[in-house]
Amino acid sequence: MNSIEVKDLTKKFGNFTSVDNISFDVKQGEVFGFLGANGAGKSTTIKMLCGILEPSGGDAMVGGFSIKKDPDNVKRNIGYMSQKFSLYSDLTIEENINFFASIYGLEGEKLKERKEWVLKTAGLEDRKDSLTGTLSTGFKQRLALGTAVIHEPKIVFLDEPTGGVDPISRKNFWDLINELSTQGITVFVTTHYLDEAEFCNRIMMIDAGKIIAGGSPGELKTNYLTNPIFETECSKPDQAINLLDDVSWIKSTAFFGEYIHITLNNTEINNSEQRNAEIRDILEKGGLKVSRIERIPPSLEDVFVNLLEKDKQS
Ligand SMILES: Nc1ncnc2c1ncn2[C@@H]1O[C@H](COP(=O)(O)OP(=O)(O)OP(=O)(O)O)[C@@H](O)[C@H]1O
Ligand SMILES: [Mg+2]
Repeated sequence: MNSIEVKDLTKKFGNFTSVDNISFDVKQGEVFGFLGANGAGKSTTIKMLCGILEPSGGDAMVGGFSIKKDPDNVKRNIGYMSQKFSLYSDLTIEENINFFASIYGLEGEKLKERKEWVLKTAGLEDRKDSLTGTLSTGFKQRLALGTAVIHEPKIVFLDEPTGGVDPISRKNFWDLINELSTQGITVFVTTHYLDEAEFCNRIMMIDAGKIIAGGSPGELKTNYLTNPIFETECSKPDQAINLLDDVSWIKSTAFFGEYIHITLNNTEINNSEQRNAEIRDILEKGGLKVSRIERIPPSLEDVFVNLLEKDKQS
C-alpha cells in the first residue's frame, strides 16, 4: 500500500523553480531517504508534502489526503520535524511535550501514556523538569522526534534530523527511526549524509529540483554506476588529484576523507588490473608516496558524485 503518492509536484518562487515536476511513491512502513546537496529542494518538497506550503503545480496524496485540496487533514495525520526543530529552549522538557500534546488534543490517560513514551524514547525519564535549552543536540533531536509522533501518526517527515551531531548520537537516532518503521510508520527523511542513506529501504536523489536517481541502496549502486572505481591512500592528495585529472581514461576523482576515489571511464571495465599499476606509476613518477591502491565497490557517495557530474554536463 502506498502511503505517499507524488505526481508532477512543482514549486516556483517567482521565476525560480525550486522543485521541478517530481513524481514518486512511498510504501507504508518504508524508511524513505530523500537525498540532495544544499539547495536541491529537499525542505521545499517536505513542506509541500506536510501541507504547509502550497504547490505551484501537481499534487500529492499523503495518508489518503490531497495536499492541494485538503492540507488540514494532511497536517493532522502526519508528524513533522523541521530542519530547525521546533522545541522551546526556555520551556522544560515536560512543558514542551505538553505543548505538542495540546496541539493534537491529547489529554487524560492518553496524554500520560504518550508523555511517558516520549520521555522513555528520548532517554529523558529523569530529566523532565530540566530546561530544554540545557540538553545536548543529540537529546534534543530525540525529544523533537518523540514530540513529532506524540499523536501516533502513520507517517512522519524528518528534515535533516541528524545535522550537527556526533556519530554515536546519529546511530542512536537511526535505531529510533528503525523502531518506528517496524511499528508500520512510514518515515520520510532527508539527509545529505550518504552513509545514513544506506539505512533507508529506498532512496530518491534530487538535484536542482529534479529527481536524478531512485531505488534501494543496492539498486542505485548496480544500476547507476558500472565504472571501475579505485581508492588510493597517498601523500599529497591535492597533487595526486591534479596528476590524475589529466589522464584520458579517468572519468573523475574525488576526496573521500583522507583517501581519493578514482572513477575510470566505462570502457576500462576489462582493464582494471593494468590501470591499477598505471595509476600507481603516474603518482610515483609525480614524486608521491603511494601506500595503498585498490579496486572498491561503489559507495552511495560515488554514485551520487558521478550522477551530479553527469547532470552538470548534460
Ligand atoms: N521562500 C523562498 N523564496 C525563494 N526561494 C526559496 C524559498 N525557499 C527555498 N527557496 C530556494 O529553493 C531552493 C531549494 O531550497 P530548499 O530549502 O528546499 O533546499 P534543501 O535541499 O532543503 O537545502 P538544505 O540542504 O540547505 O536544507 C534554494 O535555492 C532556495 O534558496
Ligand atoms: Mg533543507
